[in-house]
Amino acid sequence: MVKLTLALLALSATVSCQEYVPFDTTQLDASSYFEQFLYKDFLDSYWHESKGWIWDKNKDRYVKYKGKWAIESSLKNPAYGEQDKGLVLKSEAAHSAVSFKLTSKFNNTDQDLVLQYEIKLQSGLECGGAYIKLLDAADDYRGFNDETPYQIMFGPDKCGSENKVHFILSRPNPITGTIEKKHLRAPPMARINDLSNLYTLILKKNSDFEIRINGQVAKAGNLHSNIHLLDPPLYQNPQYIEDPNDVRPEDWDDQLMIADPNAELPEDYDIKHVLKFIPDPSIPKPDDWDENEPLTIPDPDATKPESWNEEEDGEWGPPEIPNPVCEQHGCGTWSPTLKPNPDYVGPYVPPYIPNPNYKGLFRPRQILNPDFYNDTNPSNIKLVGGIGFELWSMQNNIMFNNIYLGHSIKEAEWIGNQTFLPKVELEFEYKKNHKEKVKHEPVPPPPTFDEIITDDSIPGFKQFLVFIKFFLLKQTLDLFDFYYEFLRDPLNLITNHPIKFVLYCTVFVTFFTFISGVGAVLLFLVTGGGSASPDYPEPSKSSEEDEILDNERDLDTTQPWVEKEEPKIIELEDSEVEIVASGTYVSEAQPRKRKA
Ligand SMILES: *[C@@H]1O[C@H](CO)[C@@H](O)[C@H](O)[C@H]1NC(C)=O
Ligand SMILES: *[C@@H]1O[C@H](CO)[C@@H](O)[C@H](O)[C@H]1NC(C)=O
Ligand SMILES: *[C@@H]1O[C@H](CO)[C@@H](O)[C@H](O)[C@H]1NC(C)=O
Repeated sequence: MVKLTLALLALSATVSCQEYVPFDTTQLDASSYFEQFLYKDFLDSYWHESKGWIWDKNKDRYVKYKGKWAIESSLKNPAYGEQDKGLVLKSEAAHSAVSFKLTSKFNNTDQDLVLQYEIKLQSGLECGGAYIKLLDAADDYRGFNDETPYQIMFGPDKCGSENKVHFILSRPNPITGTIEKKHLRAPPMARINDLSNLYTLILKKNSDFEIRINGQVAKAGNLHSNIHLLDPPLYQNPQYIEDPNDVRPEDWDDQLMIADPNAELPEDYDIKHVLKFIPDPSIPKPDDWDENEPLTIPDPDATKPESWNEEEDGEWGPPEIPNPVCEQHGCGTWSPTLKPNPDYVGPYVPPYIPNPNYKGLFRPRQILNPDFYNDTNPSNIKLVGGIGFELWSMQNNIMFNNIYLGHSIKEAEWIGNQTFLPKVELEFEYKKNHKEKVKHEPVPPPPTFDEIITDDSIPGFKQFLVFIKFFLLKQTLDLFDFYYEFLRDPLNLITNHPIKFVLYCTVFVTFFTFISGVGAVLLFLVTGGGSASPDYPEPSKSSEEDEILDNERDLDTTQPWVEKEEPKIIELEDSEVEIVASGTYVSEAQPRKRKA
């Protein structure tokens, strides 16, 4: 116990003795920008708080950027002493913007872009941003606000269950003439813990991109081969479209086969293809049918009406009446009864031949899509003139540190190896050693009777008292045991311990009043309540303890150098694993599940 405490103290002593050594920037390329905040304080630095305004949707008016920034050493889990400082957002729930104007503009034309920085969420992050912006070249950034043009935005943004590491690229759309903000779809999740975390963005000139968190690839792909990585995409599809003015000509013959015009009708054409019904020979013409007898005859009884006017109504003739002869036999033209033609097979299908005039299916001709464009070099961003943070966060004390902007992955990895890795290790040690003390230290059990009696350091009188105490205690316990046993199974007890029973009975009967009265008082005085079991305080599971447990879980999951399982690259789609991380300074930070 004591040894352990001493060991811990020694360890923390060595930890706090760690000297902060600034990163040696002389070995970086001249075009590389590296900021490790070696300033006395904020006013001593080249960073400037924004004096700008931002439209507040809730207040329906412009409001000032009021957030305060500081350059100070770590408040939570420090790795080094006062010397190691970072840029810290001090205000919560306020529009906060800070920027730094690069001494020379950053030109990424035909180069790889590497942007890297550390974030330490010293007060956690429930809702807020921690992203960095590469600002378009400008004379100054005093009015830096959310509308200040930027080329790249990169970094964590979390609110409630939303947790993403933004990667936004500003690219011109030559068709609409606007600047589009191309967001990375399905971004990786930010690490939410109170140690430093390193975020790296790599955008190569061949359009490969990579996001690394603590040196591990969290998302990678090629912006051209996977059109779905960015929204809106880098190019508008398709390159060619059908000409809407190219319509199908009237005489366009797209019939592949035609009926043979020279084919002759077969001889059995009628019987097979025309006649569905034929006369039924089983029902012949009746013998007395008279084809010559007309169906009607002039009415012999009719007379010309008086009113008939030959000049107006024409010549008068008698009206026709049914021929009475036809009531005895059929008259007029005889037509046979019909029946289905058994030889009929259906309509005639002429033989088909290939159409000699066939021109194929009509397709309008392809023309270049007037909306097509291809952003062939997304890494050729405009000149970057400044770096800035334009944030709003419910939690303050977000610390930014070791910002690198350059063209070299190697430099960024080297910086990570030299600055981030040793630091986060010390931070972790610090956190481990400064866990809040458990409220109730376990109490050692009290010495036993034997220990007291044999301990020479205890005076004889005290030993005697203890002896009496334990003797009476034992007698009492025996008595109670017997009593309870008697209640449970009196017959068995009496038959097994008849002497004891008689003895106790005698004692009870004789001294009941005395023992139960004076004896109990005496017993109480001597034993002080009389319980042989040590007095452990009941551990109360306070919320504080819960927090400690939580912290322990945090440590487990954020411990960056203990590999528990295969390092996982989260949220990589198959098609996106196109880049293999090369020579990374891998710290095996596990992708951390957000706490519900
Ligand atoms: C940026 O770099 C490219 C390629 O080296 C060069 O052609 C261009 O002139 C540079 N632009 C500026 C403004 O320096
Ligand atoms: C766009 O340009 C890139 C780079 O030249 C090329 O790889 C890609 O195939 C092009 N995409 C289209 C749709 O033309
Ligand atoms: C960073 O450290 C890793 C692991 O120690 C090593 O493999 C890698 O080469 C280092 N990279 C640089 C650029 O120093």
